[in-house]
Parts: sequence; structure tokens; C-alpha cells
Amino acid sequence: MTVPPRVTGAEREALRRAQELALRGTGEVEPNPTVGAVVLRGGEVVGEGWHARYGGPHAEVAALADAGDRARGATVCVTLEPCCTTGKTGPCTEALLAAGVTRVVVGCVDPAPGHAGRGLADLRAAGVDVEVVGSPTCEAVLRRFTDALARRRPHVFAKWAMSADGAIAPADRTRTVLSGPEAHALVHRWRGAVDAVLVGVGTVVADDPRLTARGDEAPTRPLRRVVLDPRLRTPPGSVLATTTDKAPTWIVADEEADPRAADALEEHGARVLRVPEGPEWTADALEVLGLEGVRRLLVEGGSDTLGRLVAADLVDQVACFLTPARLGDDALPAVAGLELGGLDAQAIAQILRLQGVRVEPVGPDVLVRGFRPVREDVARDG
Ligand SMILES: NC(=O)c1ccc[n+]([C@@H]2O[C@H](COP(=O)([O-])OP(=O)(O)OC[C@H]3O[C@@H](n4cnc5c(N)ncnc54)[C@H](OP(=O)(O)O)[C@@H]3O)[C@@H](O)[C@H]2O)c1
Repeated sequence: MTVPPRVTGAEREALRRAQELALRGTGEVEPNPTVGAVVLRGGEVVGEGWHARYGGPHAEVAALADAGDRARGATVCVTLEPCCTTGKTGPCTEALLAAGVTRVVVGCVDPAPGHAGRGLADLRAAGVDVEVVGSPTCEAVLRRFTDALARRRPHVFAKWAMSADGAIAPADRTRTVLSGPEAHALVHRWRGAVDAVLVGVGTVVADDPRLTARGDEAPTRPLRRVVLDPRLRTPPGSVLATTTDKAPTWIVADEEADPRAADALEEHGARVLRVPEGPEWTADALEVLGLEGVRRLLVEGGSDTLGRLVAADLVDQVACFLTPARLGDDALPAVAGLELGGLDAQAIAQILRLQGVRVEPVGPDVLVRGFRPVREDVARDG
């Protein structure tokens, strides 16, 4: 017979609040779980926190910081079992113990292998009173996280700026700035909170971009810059190939691509990753990045790259800046294969099959964002 959890009304209410807080991280932390935490002392809320940024502090750590000294002897109600391992941040179990927390109420157990139940065991072993509620709502908040656990490729976050007539660049591909400074600031913040940023070689040839994170907030990770370049067309003199002392550059090429081209790029410090030719080259390339430790990937275009990723159902999250510019009939479509010109935000979201859609003004532009549905067959090798 299972024993029902011993949880007070104040703790249930705190857990509900923690679920609300968890949702504030939606779109910022995937494939990490969205998590919220509330610190209770004598039934009163003395601290709140959530996992707000990929690579940033976990919810418990944020809530403990909010509570300060009042965390000593307090109860922490958290939607997900506290982690017990060092990832991008230290173990939350240790932070809870260091803060002198005496009771932890957990919404649900961490489904990740290597975590499941270990955090709870560590806390109990240290004398903390631990209660697991087994909340279906907390589990629902974690769905995207559990889906991501089933696959090896990174979480793919695709962003682009698009003219009102649905283009990403003019017909002659001259470098054109479409979005405003507010959008640029947001993109630099996103670059600071991913493991890697990726473009197709067409963008490297046309724009010779830097792809570094130049936001106000310090990056949570050393940013890798990745080029999908099956035939190794990346110019050895390009900014990406010649600035590897500032940030690593990885070029993903076909196995058969010219070894001399690879040598020229590697001489500058770029790394060439080889992926065997085949019908699933795009998915295989992403899997290679996953094996190299890339868990959150920001894809910044161009048209062909976005089109191939969308067509192969390999995009998890989208951010599209709709800008007032017009680039004309012959311009390059934002996502090759999709007609997005002249549509409003809701129609664009529908064509992209987005869920959880958010539409908001960002300076002179409109940001449309959402998630693509999870594929049924996410685990390609079972
Ligand atoms: N407005 C924006 O937000 C934005 C953002 C980025 C880029 N852009 C613009 O977009 C333009 C470039 O777009 P684009 O469509 O010409 O080029 P692209 O998408 O940057 O690169 C396409 C090329 O990359 C390789 N590639 C990419 N994904 C691949 C895959 N899954 N499988 C195999 N090969 C893959 C192929 O190289 P091979 O041809 O060698 O096989 C392909 O031709 C530029 O003008 C740039 O300014 C705009």
C-alpha cells in the first residue's frame, strides 16, 4: 500500500505557485526542464525562484538567494526533484543543505537517468525531511524535457528576421539588416545562453558573420559557432575561420569533402566534423553535434538551412521577427519551401505548426515564437 504524501495546505499552495514560476522559463531553458521553487517559513512565502536561463542558476538556487538567511530551517517546495550532479551549475542538493533547509516538498521525481531518486536519497541521507507529491501538473510541465531525453540531437531553436513580404535577404544576397536594435539585443542574449549557434555555408559566403554573443549578460557557455557545409565552401579567410581564438568554429562537412579544403580551414584552428553522405544527413549532422555536447542549438539561417531543418522536422522552437521592410518579388524566402509573405503573426504560426504561440512587439518589429510539436518517433534508434 502506498502512503499518501504528508503535505500541508500551505505547501500545496506553494507548489502551485512554483508551477506558475516554472512556466516563466518556457522558451529560455529547453532542453533543460522548466522548474519553479518556493521557500516557506512558518507557512509564509519567504523566497521564490525559477530556472530562467539555459546554463543559469536552477530554481532552488534562485529561490534560496531570494530567501537569504530566512532559508535556514525553512521548507522548499519545488516542482522537480533537486539535482545531485554538477552540470552547468553545482548540485542543488548541496545548495539546499548549505542553506540549512530542513524540509523539501517535490512535485515529481526527475525522469533523467542518473538523477531519478538520487537527489531525494542524498537529501534524506543528510537528515532532510523529503516528501514527493507526484503531481501530474508538475509532470506535464516537464513534457518537453522528457521528450528531449529520448533523443541524442540538440534542442533546435531556429530564429530569423523576415521582411513583410516573407524574405530573409534580397535577391542579390547583399547583406541587409532587417530587424531593429531591440531584436539584435535579444538575439545576442539568446546566443549567450546556448551551447552553439549554427548557420549554413550560404550565409557565411554572403555575410561573413562573426556569430559571437555581444550582449550585456555574460554568456553561460563558451559559444561554439557551427557551419553546415557539406562541400567545404567556407572561405579559409572568413571571419569564422580566422577568429577561432575568440570562439571555436566547427564546420560540418560530408565525409567525401576535399581534404585540402579541410586542411586550409584547420590551419586557422577551425574544426572539421565529417558526416557520412546519406538521406538523413541533416539529422545525422545534428546528432554529431549532440554527441559533441551541444544540447541547445540556435540556428540563424539562412533560407535553405531553415527550409531543410523544417522539412526534416528537426526544429523544436521558433522565433521569427516580422519586420516592416519589403524586399521584393525575387527576394530569398525566409524558409525555403514555405510561403510566409504578407501573412499576419497567427497565420505564420499556423503554417509553421507552432504551439504555445506568443506574439509581442520588439522595437519596430513583431516577434512570433512558439514550439513545434514533438515527433512521435523522436527516438530514432529506439
Ligand atoms: N534575415 C535573417 O535573419 C538572415 C539570417 C541568416 C542568413 N540570412 C541571409 O540568407 C542568405 C543565405 O541563405 P541561403 O539559403 O543562400 O544559404 P544558407 O541556408 O545559409 O546555406 C545553404 C547552404 O548550406 C549547406 N547546407 C545547409 N544546410 C544543409 C543541410 N541540411 N544539408 C546539406 N547542406 C546544407 C548547403 O551547401 P552546399 O550548397 O555547398 O551543398 C546549402 O547550399 C544570405 O543572403 C544571408 O544574408 C538572413
